This record gives sequence, structure tokens and C-alpha cells, in this order.
Amino acid sequence: MTYIVANWKLHGSQDFVKNYSEILGACLNTAPKEKNITTIICPPFPFLERVALAGVIHGFSAGAQDCSAYESGAHTGDVSASMIKEIGAGYVIIGHSECRQKNPNEHQYISQKILQVQKAGLTPILCVGESLDVHNTGNADSFVLDQLEKALKNYIDLKNILVAYEPIWAIGTGKTATLQDIVYMHRAIKSAPLLKNLNIPILYGGSVKPDNTSEILTLDTVQGVLVGGASLKAETFNFIVKAAF
Ligand code: PGA
Repeated sequence: MTYIVANWKLHGSQDFVKNYSEILGACLNTAPKEKNITTIICPPFPFLERVALAGVIHGFSAGAQDCSAYESGAHTGDVSASMIKEIGAGYVIIGHSECRQKNPNEHQYISQKILQVQKAGLTPILCVGESLDVHNTGNADSFVLDQLEKALKNYIDLKNILVAYEPIWAIGTGKTATLQDIVYMHRAIKSAPLLKNLNIPILYGGSVKPDNTSEILTLDTVQGVLVGGASLKAETFNFIVKAAF
């Protein structure tokens, strides 16, 4: 199985969803079945239901970019995992570095959010990754393993999760991690005490583009990619999807 995930961040419109879905759908129609490609589109909340409905026709899944740490209650502005499930999405990105940066206390909520996602019957896409400062200290692996440990400590169904390694210094910078960096961190994640022997799919994210996707996907530690900027044009994203064919 190869996962190709588009994170639209704060982009999109109703027309955009329609055009994008048709162009992506035409590409997915030609995907070799034996390649088992799962394409997941993560739009802003107002378009999630539309993306989920379009996905049924065009062969992709929908995912949210975040969710509430709570099931219900006095949490103005929140969207719960069960609401996301109800409108037909299958995945939720949790712990994206942009969410962690916006809310310095985000790390305290990540394990709770993952639990909510699991309770709703959805699959979390847990993002982990170090800053450039941490990277330069040479301790990126222990930093990322600590993020994982904290995120997963209460998580029961450890089999139903995707982990995305997204070094912060590679996100939106055009500076993709080297293949050695990716393999090194993916091996560290795979051998984390909580994940050992579970064969969790691990994705890479950070300046993934049409011209570097193939080499990233040939790494045997990589089961997919999480794409931000290069997912915003359906034609460009199609090249990334085709790299998995
Ligand atoms: P990018 O973003 O592909 O624009 O680097 C990736 C992400 O933030 O998930």
C-alpha cells in the first residue's frame, strides 16, 4: 500500500474542489490496481464533506487537517472527530508542525486527539519532526521518538495509524530531507518501543514535488508522502500520484 496525502492547508473553494476532483479522478482511473494506492485529500473543514462525496465518485479518501481533543461540550471553534466521521472522511492529520507552532501547548492535546480519532473509527495521520536547531544538534532521532512516545502513550489500537515524518526545516522551504535523513529517521521510528513489529506505514513530508517523489518512494522504509504546496494544483499533484504507479 502506498499513501499519497494532499494537505491543502488554508486553500480551496467549492469550485476548486470540483475541478480538482475531476482532474485527480481521471488520473486515479488509470492507476494500476495491484499498486494499491490510497490517495487522501485534506481540505479545510468547510470543504471536507464535498471532498468526501467527490472522493466516492473519483476514487480518493478525505481527511481533516486537525480535530478537537474533546468529544463535545463548550469548545467554541472546535470540530470533533465523530463529526468528521459523520460527513464521510476517513483520516485526520494530528500534530502537524503548523498546529504545534501556533499553539505552544498543542503537544499536551495530541494523545487526546488521537484517542478521539480512534474512538470515532477514523485513522490518524500523526506528524512528527524536528526543527532545524534540533536537527543541527544531531539529536533529531531522540526528539522525534519522544514526540511519538508522548502522542501514543494512551493509544490502544496502535495498528490503525499512519505516521508522517516531516522535518520542520523541509516544510514549505523547497529543502527536501536527503534520502539518508529519511531512511535514518524512518528506521528510528519503526524501531520505537511502541511501534516495533507493528509494521505501521510511515510517510515522508517536506517539500515533496513531482521530481523527487519517485526516489523517495523507492526507499523501502517509506510507505507514502504527505504533500503541501505541490498538492495545490491537481495537474502537479497528479504527477506525484503517478510516481506511485
Ligand atoms: P510542503 O508541506 O509539501 O509544502 O513542504 C508539507 C506539509 O506541511 O505537510
